[in-house]
Amino acid sequence: MAADAGLLRLLTCGSVDDGKSTLIGRLLHDTRQVTTDRLAALESDSRRHGTTGEDVDLALLVDGLEAEREQGITIDVAHLYFATPRRAFIVADAPGHEQYTRNMATAASEADLAILLVDARKGLLTQTRRHAAICRLMGIRRVVLAVNKIDLMGHDEGVFRRIVADFEVFARRIGLAGVTAIPISARYGDNVVAPSTRMDWHDGPTLLEHLETVDVSHDAADAPFRLSVQWVSRPHADFRGYAGTVASGRVRVGDEVAILPSGRTTRIERILGTEGEREGARAGDAVTVTFADEIDAARGDLIAPVRARPVSADRFTADLVQLSEEPLLPGRSYLMRIGDVWTSASLTALKYRLDVDTQDRLAAKELRLNEIGTADLATARPVVFDPYAENRATGAFILVDRFTHATAAAGMILHPLRRAANVHYEPSSVDAAARAALKGQKPACLWFTGLSGSGKSSIARALETKLHAAGRHTMLLDGDNLRHGLTKDLGFTDVDRVENVRRAGEAAKLMTEAGLIVLCAFISPFRADRDTVRALFPDGEFFEVFVDTPLEDCMRRDPKGLYAKAARGEIPNFTGIGAPYERPEFPDLRIEGGSGSPEAGAEAAFALLRDAGRLETG
Ligand code: ADX
Repeated sequence: MAADAGLLRLLTCGSVDDGKSTLIGRLLHDTRQVTTDRLAALESDSRRHGTTGEDVDLALLVDGLEAEREQGITIDVAHLYFATPRRAFIVADAPGHEQYTRNMATAASEADLAILLVDARKGLLTQTRRHAAICRLMGIRRVVLAVNKIDLMGHDEGVFRRIVADFEVFARRIGLAGVTAIPISARYGDNVVAPSTRMDWHDGPTLLEHLETVDVSHDAADAPFRLSVQWVSRPHADFRGYAGTVASGRVRVGDEVAILPSGRTTRIERILGTEGEREGARAGDAVTVTFADEIDAARGDLIAPVRARPVSADRFTADLVQLSEEPLLPGRSYLMRIGDVWTSASLTALKYRLDVDTQDRLAAKELRLNEIGTADLATARPVVFDPYAENRATGAFILVDRFTHATAAAGMILHPLRRAANVHYEPSSVDAAARAALKGQKPACLWFTGLSGSGKSSIARALETKLHAAGRHTMLLDGDNLRHGLTKDLGFTDVDRVENVRRAGEAAKLMTEAGLIVLCAFISPFRADRDTVRALFPDGEFFEVFVDTPLEDCMRRDPKGLYAKAARGEIPNFTGIGAPYERPEFPDLRIEGGSGSPEAGAEAAFALLRDAGRLETG
């Protein structure tokens, strides 16, 4: 079948009660996608399981989709494909309930158009607003408001107009443009594929007509040219090509382009497609390009027109949809994937959480599963992007948990933060090496982690005594002490602990830059945050020491009487009782804190430093 208007990816939003399955079934049936056999089976199924009396229950046609979802084959979104002589369609069906925000967001991120289904008897529901808001957030530019079951309201124009007027008010408020409203009856087929004879007052297109003709090419093809290098092709010494799929826009041989992030410029010399040499390429085409000049590009680099370059920044503001059970915490370090580039990123500030139903902005300390929020982020190195509203391909990213490697959140960049871009490192002629050299030592950070009462502080103190006696310049940072000053604004929620460990880590880093051997004693219960601290230091300078004392021993010792309090329920989130402790998987040293003395532990830590060459002088 010819599909000259291009592929249309559409998303259907609404609940089963709104007639979503019936609508999809009706589209398939009336566009003759259903074989005679299937139709015969459908008729007998309808007699047995149908809910439509004598009529064929078209909703049963999409039951396959529901089953697929229940089995968890496609947990997120079910897809269905069909084509008419004018266009090919991929229908993504996202379940309607509130807890599926993430599924809907995932489906919406790939859709060109969304059909919002409304039951004419009920009008707009909270759910309709929620779906519309997510569509807007995910950058869907075409929305069909399908007012279904209009037959049950006597095909009344007034009913339709009132619902449309309601929706227009809401759409304007959230900034959703490109809405087309169509009165339909999925059950009887009115205005779905065939025009209705019962609604003369409707002078717009049928649903299918609209879907077949709506122009969405503009979205990807009219944005500036972007090609992310997926791999560098070097079949022989005389050829170097850069392969990837054109993310947006068009390019022609001879175009002047810049390679980001380096910013170097050249011209496109050749464009090779699957069928050989070509003059140009556009969004969606998989090509290999070569440059007129000897310029290197690497995997993940972005090729863009010289005069329409993307942004390069390491601070930006973004909308986030939380996709994982594990809450998203400011201060924690995540892996970020944008295009073909991976880097580290953290939320420097969670500005607010969006109440999707009311559109209110609520204060939030973390983002939980299915929540939507807006945050400032910082990346370890500058990343190249466009605001999502301008380019969905280059403005979207994901955050990934460092340990589970599960996707934590999906992000849509709003804008770079320019102010932050103007903060620079102050170079200093006396550097870390010079400071350490004057002290005649090698700096290091020993990070003691373990339960409260495990003996971290005692071991660290004993170690400091030994190092001091050996003529080393040291500093001891201890959770209990820092919490009287630098971190006195923090408590013991997950978010606060992340921030506590982040600040302690940054302070320790400054001290190693001053040439000191720094001993840190913090429960630091989360692996991700300990790992984030490790990443602050040059290789070989950071040592994670796990003081592994069984909980029972810590409880028996209970030096501060806190376990007793926790047992009485007076400290709800006490580590090991009401709050988790994640054991280090690969510590540099494990000290059995239950059996040995603090001196023995200090001895082992001293040996660790010595064996790593950190106690050499000079
Ligand atoms: S951390 O979890 O953020 O790394 P930190 O090491 O700074 O904790 O502080 C732990 C000390 O705070 C404990 O040794 C204990 O004295 C005290 N404390 C008070 N409340 C709690 C709590 N809910 N959980 C753990 N420690 C607590």
